[in-house]
Formats: sequence, structure tokens, C-alpha cells
Amino acid sequence: MDSMRVCVVGASGKLGRYMVQHALNRGYEVVGVCRERSVGKLDAFKGRIAVLPGATNDRELIKRAVAGCDGVLTVLVPWGVHQYSSGTAQAVLDYARPGARLIFSCGWHITRDGKDVYPQSLRREEVLARWFGRLTRMVDIDDQVEACRRIFASDTRWTVVRGSDLEEGESQGLPVWSRHVGDPLLASNMTRRVDYALFMVEALTNDALIHEAPAIVGCRTSSALAYAAVAPGHGR
Ligand SMILES: NC(=O)c1ccc[n+]([C@@H]2O[C@H](COP(=O)([O-])OP(=O)(O)OC[C@H]3O[C@@H](n4cnc5c(N)ncnc54)[C@H](OP(=O)(O)O)[C@@H]3O)[C@@H](O)[C@H]2O)c1
Repeated sequence: MDSMRVCVVGASGKLGRYMVQHALNRGYEVVGVCRERSVGKLDAFKGRIAVLPGATNDRELIKRAVAGCDGVLTVLVPWGVHQYSSGTAQAVLDYARPGARLIFSCGWHITRDGKDVYPQSLRREEVLARWFGRLTRMVDIDDQVEACRRIFASDTRWTVVRGSDLEEGESQGLPVWSRHVGDPLLASNMTRRVDYALFMVEALTNDALIHEAPAIVGCRTSSALAYAAVAPGHGR
């Protein structure tokens, strides 16, 4: 089979750069989209990836970037108040070729069916982030919620990967997942960022994740280890 061509939307961020690296490791051809001022953050990949600079909610830019791509990995940024996340998601949904695998990132706070049970600490964090966001007009959590609502309603081949709290550090391997926050498997609420990226890139070729919104946690965390016996090596 010809090499897979993938687009990373939001390539210059921490998660984005890890995704670019994982995709290159697999021999994929990579197109990255990032803000003009952030192009330098991709210098380490110079000559190995194509970079299209611009706002990720620029529909024409996304149209060009995803042309001919078999997969699109999108960072749903919770920053800004100009429908940045929902505009980005909508452009990807509209312009990716039919049949392409579309993988989106967000946090545990996104719920697909309302059956997630959130710890107190996470609920407090969300209330604070929403309040801080409205005050400073820097963060717009509700726009990420809207982005995911549109993705869930779409008949494209999507996966929404819901990340726990994140930390830097070496890879521990592919995170495990559950359909609902509140599952004891997820209690540790921590994933290495490099492994969050790994999960996103692996999802490109895992059809079992189509139309799923896996909530993930590091495979070496105590909750994952405690429940590994119940669901060895998989999510549920
Ligand atoms: N605890 C967490 O951090 C956490 C937990 C769960 C899930 N997530 C999810 O993980 C993803 C990325 O998280 P991350 O922590 O690893 O961050 P990251 O990769 O550094 O991503 C930040 C992204 O936001 C962009 N950005 C920053 N300021 C912006 C602005 N004013 N306007 C437009 N774009 C802006 C960055 O682009 P530039 O490179 O151009 O600045 C970059 O693409 C998100 O989907 C987030 O919801 C995060």
C-alpha cells in the first residue's frame, strides 16, 4: 500500500509535535497546519513535513491542507473566542475526503451521552475555567463543546479522544480507555502527553474506535494497573 498521508491541524503545539513525530516514525507523509507565528516551533521537522501556516479555522487553508489526506489529526484548541475550535472542526468535517479517518483531541470534560460521572475536582476546574475564560476572553470551553457536538452528529469516520490531565515524560506505551469518565480504570487521571499523541495516531488505523469518544489514561498509572486484569490491554 502507498504510504498514508496525514494532516496534523495544530501541529506546532506540544501535542501536535508529538503527533507529527509518531506519524513520521510510521513512515506517513505529513502536512502540518499552524499559526504563522508558530512555524519556527516545527524547525526540527524541516524538510520532512509540509507546513501550511495560518489560522486553523481558516476554511480555505484547511481545504488545501486536508486535500488527498487519508487521515486528519486535529487539536481542538480551547483558546480564543472566535469559534476557533468549532470553526476548525467544521472545516475538517466539510473538506476531508469521504472515508478519511478523522481524530480529534479534547479533554474529559466533553461528554457524548451524558453518562460520564465527573470527580468534584474536575467539576470545580471546569467552572473556574469557564468563569476565567469569560472574564479574560482567552478561553472558550463552550466552543470546544460545540465543536464536539458537531463531530458527534457527523457521519464521517470520526474518533474524539478525551484526554485526562497530562504530564511530560517518556512514553509508557499506549494508554487504556473507557467509554465513560467515572469508570475506576480512569481514576488516576494522568496520561503522558507523548502517549496521548500515540493514542491519536494509532486511532488512524484502529477501526474499532470509529464513532467512539474514548476517555484515556496512562497504561502504567495505578488505576490502569489495578483494572488491567479486568480489561487487559484494551479499553472498554
Ligand atoms: N491538561 C491538559 O493540558 C489537557 C488535558 C486534556 C486534554 N487536553 C487537550 O489536549 C489538546 C492540546 O493540549 P496541550 O496541553 O498538549 O497543548 P498544546 O499541544 O500546546 O496545544 C495548544 C494549541 O493551542 C494553540 N494556541 C495557543 N494559543 C492560541 C491562540 N491564542 N489562538 C489560537 N491557537 C492557540 C497552539 O498553537 P501555537 O503553537 O500556534 O501556539 C497549539 O496548537 C487540546 O485538545 C486540549 O483540550 C489538554
